[in-house]
Amino acid sequence: MYMVRKPKLTEVVSMKQLLDEAAAEEQVLPRQLPELYENVRDFYVYVDERGLGGLVALHIDMVDLAEVRSLVVRGDLRGRGVGRRLVETVVAEAELLDIARVYALTRLPEFFEKSGFREVDRNELPYKVFKDCIGCRLYPGCDEIAMVRDLAATKE
Ligand SMILES: CC(C)(COP(=O)(O)OP(=O)(O)OC[C@H]1O[C@@H](n2cnc3c(N)ncnc32)[C@H](O)[C@@H]1OP(=O)(O)O)[C@@H](O)C(=O)NCCC(=O)NCCS
Repeated sequence: MYMVRKPKLTEVVSMKQLLDEAAAEEQVLPRQLPELYENVRDFYVYVDERGLGGLVALHIDMVDLAEVRSLVVRGDLRGRGVGRRLVETVVAEAELLDIARVYALTRLPEFFEKSGFREVDRNELPYKVFKDCIGCRLYPGCDEIAMVRDLAATKE
C-alpha cells in the first residue's frame, strides 16, 4: 500500500533524515527541524509499507510564484515515477491556488523537463527567491539551473 498525502507531525523527523541524506550530497538545501515543523503544511509525502518514501514542498514566494523544493525520493524507490508523482501533486495544489508559475532550482533539469518545466535565466526570478541560498557555501556561484512551469488558471 502506498500513497501521497500531507505529512503527520510524527513524520517530520523521518522527513528531516531523508532531506539530510540528500543535503549531504548537496542535492537539496538542508532544513532544520523548527523550520520543518513551521512549514510542514508546505509538504506532501509518499509513504509505503516501509514508511516514508519521498517528500516535496510547495513554498509560496508571492502572489504569482511558488517554489517546488525539498524533493527527495528514497534510494530504493527511484526511477519508478514517485518523483514525478510528487511534483504533479504540488503542481495540482498550485493550480488550485491560482498560482501563475512554479519554479525549481536544480542540478537535474532533465527530470523537471519531463514534468513540463523549461529552463530560464536565473535572473528572470525575483531576487527574494534566493534568500535561502545565502547561508549556502556555494552562494553566489551556484550551478543550479532555474526551471519554471507556467500554470493554467483554474475555472470557477
Ligand atoms: C530527482 C529525484 C527526486 C527523481 O525521483 P524519481 O522518483 O527517481 O523520478 P521518476 O522516476 O519520477 O522520474 C521521472 C522522469 O525523470 C527521469 N529522471 C529521474 N531522475 C533523473 C535524473 N537524475 N536525471 C535525468 N532524468 C531523471 C526519469 O527517467 C523519468 O523519465 P521517463 O518518464 O522518460 O522515464 C530522485 O532521484 C532523488 O530523490 N534524487 C536526490 C535528491 C534530488 O536530487 N532532488 C532534486 C533536487 S531539485
